Amino acid sequence: MTLDELREKWFSFWKQRGHAVIQSASLIPENDPTVLFTTAGMHPLVPYLLGQGHPAGSRLCDVQKCVRTGDIDDVGDASHLTFFEMLGNWSLGDYFKKEAIHWSWEFLTGKDYLGIEPERLAFSVFAGDEDCPRDEESARYWEECGVPKERIFYLPKENNWWPAAGIPGPCGPDTEMFIDTGKPACGPDCSPACDCGKYLEIWNNVFMQYNRSADGVLTPLERKNVDTGMGLERTICVLTGKKSVYETEAFSDILDKIAELSGKSYGQSEEITRAFRIIADHIRCSAFILGDQRGVTPSNVDQGYVLRRLIRRSVRYGKTLELPAGSYSKIAEVIINKYQHQYPELAQNRERIIKELNLEEERFARTLNQGLKEYNKAAASLQPGDCIDGLTAFHLYDTFGFPIEMTVELARENNIKVDIQGFEEAFKEHQAKSHAGAQQRFKGGLADQSEQTARLHTATHLLHAALRKVLGTQVAQKGSNITPERLRFDFSFERKMTPEEIKQVEELVNEAIKADAPIICEEMPLEQAKQSGAIGLFESKYGENVKVYTMGNFSKEICGGPHAHSTGELISFKIKKEESSSAGVRRIKAVIGAQQ
Ligand code: ALA
Repeated sequence: MTLDELREKWFSFWKQRGHAVIQSASLIPENDPTVLFTTAGMHPLVPYLLGQGHPAGSRLCDVQKCVRTGDIDDVGDASHLTFFEMLGNWSLGDYFKKEAIHWSWEFLTGKDYLGIEPERLAFSVFAGDEDCPRDEESARYWEECGVPKERIFYLPKENNWWPAAGIPGPCGPDTEMFIDTGKPACGPDCSPACDCGKYLEIWNNVFMQYNRSADGVLTPLERKNVDTGMGLERTICVLTGKKSVYETEAFSDILDKIAELSGKSYGQSEEITRAFRIIADHIRCSAFILGDQRGVTPSNVDQGYVLRRLIRRSVRYGKTLELPAGSYSKIAEVIINKYQHQYPELAQNRERIIKELNLEEERFARTLNQGLKEYNKAAASLQPGDCIDGLTAFHLYDTFGFPIEMTVELARENNIKVDIQGFEEAFKEHQAKSHAGAQQRFKGGLADQSEQTARLHTATHLLHAALRKVLGTQVAQKGSNITPERLRFDFSFERKMTPEEIKQVEELVNEAIKADAPIICEEMPLEQAKQSGAIGLFESKYGENVKVYTMGNFSKEICGGPHAHSTGELISFKIKKEESSSAGVRRIKAVIGAQQ
């Protein structure tokens, strides 16, 4: 079975059972502040799991792109991945345990679907505790499907609860489905809970029936939901009898490209195989993050930092394979071509993916060798069990761009440790100094007004785009004036805006700010800018290139700049006044962030 066939079977199965297909949401969560990335298909659906009506109905299915970086250090073994696709089906207050379990059985064992022999399957259900009773009901439904009792394991919250205990939001007990690999049991207590390799989880059905508040209190939901997730790569691996996800179709082209670029072969040695896997996984993940609808670029914070780590770790392992400069973007090309039919945003953002990978590779390649020398110098004087001091770790981070996790990984290879607390202290001290520097400048009247002006300028673009979305595309800019205190924007429109329209515009701009989209400036001929859909005053007196500023999917406008680096810098946006300017022209005055 191929990846495409598995996706198709998934959709056809659930469509026949009344489910609407929804698009994969962005990897950058919009509705769930508990995670940096979308780690499961449920994250984008949190408001609907909590009771809001979903426009596509109460039965949904999808294939969601997911990033999980908790186990990034394990990537390189046969099974760990930072990026994967998750097949999901949902009931939003519609069917519950009985249908979910019976249908799961049909999909797993049905000849037209996965066709897995029933004796190769095992199941776990929730054992019960003070929060929620033992899930005998789910066990009964599995038995109705013909599963013998001894293949149903009762496991505690640690194994059979989603999301992991303690995380706020919708949650509940789950039932998980495993392939029994046929390996002998590791002992009398062997169960799907142990990691001896006998049982491989392929699917999870969560029965979301509670909401956990930030202080840990569980409240039953008014409507109960089903949330399921099946890992695409893992399932293909099991169905095609491969030993590792890296040996499946999901990775074959990517590994071939790495072999071509490096002249080495996958499987040549353990060290080389590990480097192949790390690079294949990390560049696939990076390409998806960079090519996302709400694309992120490498930075030192949040998602940007994770992306930086992924790319830099690849570059470090690229040394093992002696990959020539520029290889990572070439690997990404293979990934874009392979996945664009399912995720068109990859092709739409092809240039950004290539450009940012090359840039980050260059940035790190400049300091990597020197940094490794510094590291080796520091490590040379240490004995196994000793600790690299915090200041050295900070120096490697600050001067040579080594993510702290990379220093820890290097140290682990030499059986030494890193004084993380010392690193954090050095980091904080550095931040305090640069913050004091900024405040000093502010006190001296040298506050960087140009930065504030740039932000207001960015706000003007977001306002312009939002007005066109709310009032219609007849809205065109008639003038703009910015002082450090506020922005003023004149635009063609016949009547006074209603309070609802003003509120809608504010909300749209604030959403765009919250999305913290990077602001990308590209130079191009005017004709090309117009064709790309950029709005703005189309004047190019001397036929020179114009600058086009793109802010996520929200705004694309021709302009001279300068602008903020990302929309998040604006903090927030508020319209102070909407009035007439002249016949057919309205005027808005607005402020951002602390100006409110
Ligand atoms: N949200 C559940 C999981 O990811 C289905 O396992």
